[in-house]
Amino acid sequence: MYFSEEKISEIIEKNDIVDLISQYLSLNKRGKNFWGLCPFHTEKTPSFSVSGEKQMFYCFGCGTGGNVITFIQKIERLNYVEALYFLAKKARISIDERANKKDLENVKKRELLFNINGTAARFFYNNLIANSKAMDYLSKRGLNKEIIRKFGIGYSLDSWDKLNTYLNSKGFDNNLIENAGLIVKKEKGYYDRFRGRVMFPIINLGGKVIAFGGRVLDDSKPKYLNSPETPIYNKSGSIYALNMIKEISALQNIIIVEGYMDVISLYQFGIKNVVASLGTAFTEQQAKLLKRYTNDIIIAYDSDTAGQSATIKGLSILQKEGCRVKVINLPKGMDPDDFIRKEGVESFNNYINNSLSLVEYRIYNSRKNSDPKILEHRIRFSKNLAMILSTLKSPIEIDAYIKKYSKEMQISEEAIYGELKKIRSKHISGNNRHNIISKFNEKEINGQLIAEKKVLNICVLYKDKAEKIFSIINEDDFSLPLHEKIATIINLKIKEGKTISAGEILIHLTDEEERQKASEVFKTDITGKDIELLDSYIDKLHSHSLENKIKKLTDRMNEYYRLEEKEKANEIFKEILDLQKRKK
Ligand code: GTP
Ligand code: MN
Repeated sequence: MYFSEEKISEIIEKNDIVDLISQYLSLNKRGKNFWGLCPFHTEKTPSFSVSGEKQMFYCFGCGTGGNVITFIQKIERLNYVEALYFLAKKARISIDERANKKDLENVKKRELLFNINGTAARFFYNNLIANSKAMDYLSKRGLNKEIIRKFGIGYSLDSWDKLNTYLNSKGFDNNLIENAGLIVKKEKGYYDRFRGRVMFPIINLGGKVIAFGGRVLDDSKPKYLNSPETPIYNKSGSIYALNMIKEISALQNIIIVEGYMDVISLYQFGIKNVVASLGTAFTEQQAKLLKRYTNDIIIAYDSDTAGQSATIKGLSILQKEGCRVKVINLPKGMDPDDFIRKEGVESFNNYINNSLSLVEYRIYNSRKNSDPKILEHRIRFSKNLAMILSTLKSPIEIDAYIKKYSKEMQISEEAIYGELKKIRSKHISGNNRHNIISKFNEKEINGQLIAEKKVLNICVLYKDKAEKIFSIINEDDFSLPLHEKIATIINLKIKEGKTISAGEILIHLTDEEERQKASEVFKTDITGKDIELLDSYIDKLHSHSLENKIKKLTDRMNEYYRLEEKEKANEIFKEILDLQKRKK
């Protein structure tokens, strides 16, 4: 019986460890973890801990620990596969024997593809060592034998079928070699994809070759040829040289560069915490992969415009994943490889130590393209500056930047602050509007507001109706703050046994603008039809307020789930169900 990795992950994910262990022993929450008496040794005080966050258990008394599978293996005395069955059944995960067989076939195929790539990589390496033209090229680029070995660099012979013939002789058939992306099918048969190129193997975290990049030895095009996507190579989820990062014990940060040569060059100079994103746009998947190793990322892309825009995009993706990102801004026209060879490792380290934050980087770029002698440029830059600073929270930082540039641009600090304030207020009102509109559509909002206005007007016109209305609803049920305020005043008067005229309500409002708006509210006409519709207006207010209450409760419930306080979450869930019934 075979379980795929995905199946096992699903089984682990769907069996919450706290829920599961609670079925065997009683757990109490203390701090972040749950505690109980260890079922695997005798004890009087609880030293058995369960972490919902980590989905792990550990006993400080006897040292037993593990995940849901380990726990079930131990407590039910099952072997690994039996425990998986047990847990799959518990979580109602179907185990399709045939699908599993297919998984197994895929695993076998993947293994063959790894094998083919590994064999090809060794073939390329041996070709390189024996080929003086290719070795000359690499030594001209400053690479020595040791680094060539370390990165498994190779050479694909300038021939149509040398690799194909070699792989056939090792027992691999053409179908699979084509699957690995190493040969290409044409009418007359197959030919080698890579010919006459320096070969850079891309190696996964398990140390297996998953793809290649091949560079020409001269200026011909395309400069690089890469393996296509294959069952073992997913471009947007791979990072070049990440396998090397694993070897670093005290990793502080990771430097991302664009190319193979940049990685290898920096590595040779002793900067080993470096990987490459390989030309394509940096992806969320790659960011998640990097985050397994460190949160501190330094981007060192080429300083050309393509590199700059790739930098900004990469930055925002990494920041979204919660990374602290800084940027190295190399001199114009240089990539990290050029730079370190020309200026040396100390200079490069200087750049690392002075790397820029996102805000600094954006300001720097904008400043670079502005000439303070030109009025238009000064205006454009100052507006840009305000825009960039509007993303900052710290007033001290904002002040420092404004002071720094206001002199240079001969634009007063107050003016830049004014611009900043304008941007912020626009931003806020835009956001609020968006929030409201996403919850209800405009028609619904209008319908709701009309119902509210009608109800308020009826209240000031008909005392008996007002009493009835406020026995069903209360001021909370009004969505607009001004309406709520008016309703509060009316309700208060009703409780005192008094009626109140529209004019008197205005006296209770102290703010001139509010008074203006309230008098607008009381301009609404009330006809006999409205009296007929009163019940439906009340319904509208009522269901709206129920909706609000449900929403608030849902937020609270989700928060409890997040904190793993399942009991409290379930209590709230019952309340929500009750409210939902009342809605109908
Ligand atoms: P050198 O010119 O040898 O120093 O290469 P480099 O590593 O500096 O490459 P460059 O900065 O030109 O490009 C960065 C990366 O983009 C490369 O390492 C490749 O992964 C990719 N790339 C560059 N040119 C091409 C190309 O023509 N085709 C493809 N598919 N990828 C390319
Ligand atoms: Mn380069």
